[in-house]
Amino acid sequence: MDFTYYGHACFEVKVNGKKLLFDPFITPNPLAAQIDVNAIRPDYILITHAHSDHIADAITIENNSGATIIAPYEICNWLQKQGIKKFHPLGIGGKKEFDFGTVKMVVAHHSSGFQDGAYGGSSSGFVITSTEANFYYSGDTALTLDMQLIPKYAKMDFVVLPIGDNFTMDYKDAFSAAEMTGCKKVVGVHYNTFDYIKIDTEKASKYFTDNGIALLLPAIGETINV
Ligand code: NI
Ligand code: MN
Repeated sequence: MDFTYYGHACFEVKVNGKKLLFDPFITPNPLAAQIDVNAIRPDYILITHAHSDHIADAITIENNSGATIIAPYEICNWLQKQGIKKFHPLGIGGKKEFDFGTVKMVVAHHSSGFQDGAYGGSSSGFVITSTEANFYYSGDTALTLDMQLIPKYAKMDFVVLPIGDNFTMDYKDAFSAAEMTGCKKVVGVHYNTFDYIKIDTEKASKYFTDNGIALLLPAIGETINV
């Protein structure tokens, strides 16, 4: 399965021929200056919560691509007010089948207010199950025992977790999260973008490897096979 990293917590995964883009935040990210946001044409845009570092380019990319946005109910409402017409709202614990597979919205322990003060509902994570592969993207979150539920839904082929600390889990908590999911392959996101979340990636990688789990840290713009 192709996984393309666009920096921060933004990535695209190709599932059964459909392109799923997560948490679009590219143009405000100086580390992603080489990425042409207008060249990104997903079929779906999945948004975990309302913070600008997860939603900044959602409307631009939706307008360019005609993608369907999958997001918490309150975020869909907010997007509708901005003129977005193709969206599918989900609530925590709910799932829906799409043409690529099934999306289940799961618990994340984090806040979710819009920059303009609007209420974004609960912060969320996603479990994607499909005939091709299964994966979990936690979104911004603390480590939580709820993650023990993930392997009950399906065996995960890979999980995408924040490792940058300060606003979310650090890499050690992300390791514990991976253990709970029973998955041995982690893609680390949400690190190094801002001073608050600068980390020693060598230390993080070594911690994972020493304890038997792979931590993949693709370069911005890089596509890896997961
Ligand atoms: Ni956030
Ligand atoms: Mn964030």
